[in-house]
Amino acid sequence: MTVFADNANSVTAPILENEEIAKNTMRVRVLVPDMAAKVVPGQFFMIRNPSGNDPLIGRAFALYDACPHKGWLDLVYIVKGKLTTSIAPLAPRAELAIWGPLGNGFPPAKTEHLIMVAGGIGQTPFLTLAREALGNQSFGAEPRTSGYARRVSFCYGVRNASYLAGLDQFREAGCELHIASEDGSQPDGSTGRAERVTDTLSRLLDADDSEKRIVCCGPEPMMEAVAEIAHLRGVPCQISLETPMACGIGICFTCVAKIGCAEDWDYKRTCVEGPVFDAEQVIWD
Ligand SMILES: Cc1cc2nc3c(=O)[nH]c(=O)nc-3n(C[C@H](O)[C@H](O)[C@H](O)COP(=O)(O)OP(=O)(O)OC[C@H]3O[C@@H](n4cnc5c(N)ncnc54)[C@H](O)[C@@H]3O)c2cc1C
Ligand code: FES
Repeated sequence: MTVFADNANSVTAPILENEEIAKNTMRVRVLVPDMAAKVVPGQFFMIRNPSGNDPLIGRAFALYDACPHKGWLDLVYIVKGKLTTSIAPLAPRAELAIWGPLGNGFPPAKTEHLIMVAGGIGQTPFLTLAREALGNQSFGAEPRTSGYARRVSFCYGVRNASYLAGLDQFREAGCELHIASEDGSQPDGSTGRAERVTDTLSRLLDADDSEKRIVCCGPEPMMEAVAEIAHLRGVPCQISLETPMACGIGICFTCVAKIGCAEDWDYKRTCVEGPVFDAEQVIWD
């Protein structure tokens, strides 16, 4: 499915909040009523810092939270490169250039048990998805169906517990939380089993024979491993790719990924034909 960017707006919007919520991890709230009213879980926005020209092109960030009623939306970002370093010190009333919502988002597909698997900052698309799936919030200009999952589990893998962001919000959304840290550190300061999120996922799948669907976002090797687990167990799985992007609106072709179609494959633009793809179609090389 190609999602044309005709539905996107481009504005320079005021920042309402910009605060650290975990190690090196910021949550920025911007006032963008038109965008907050139509975004759906899994869509993303392109951001620029309007007070400079470096970087000249925008960067993509997934929707983290939205309040259509109050007109704001939240993005969560790791401070790592040019754009994120330049916006991390911005105070309320400073502005961001933002265009979106972009991309297809996750389908609101009915399931008994929705399992969300995130690696690091790949957690961002899942807060709104959990709320929608459990029927606690609706999204979209013409509100999409909600309440399509009976149970939502969130498998969240991080290097160590200091990187865990938004746990209380995920709990309040009604998710069952399953934390995996590579050093065994836990959110309460204790030390538990050191493991990868794929181990956590496998254990969860072993323990539940109800009908399931997996959604996944994070580093590419982790998504490939999750896709393989889902394939071997015959569980439907959608992956949200984080391919670097330049325009976000389908023009430049910097964002292409190899996607299987019929008996062959083709390059698909992640910004307008994704970022969410069926895991069975993604060609990992
Ligand atoms: C659909 C989509 C959704 C996304 N959602 C999110 C999200 O919700 N949150 C989030 O944090 N990210 C998200 N990303 C990723 C984000 O867009 C990129 O990480 C973006 O490049 C960050 O911008 P930046 O200018 O700060 O980093 P960039 O300057 O673009 O740096 C990107 C990478 O290059 C490396 N790098 C930068 N400078 C150097 C250097 N001098 N030498 C060597 N390496 C260097 C950085 O370490 C980093 O790995 C998403 C991407 C996509 C496509
Ligand atoms: S980012 Fe330009 S075509 Fe996708």
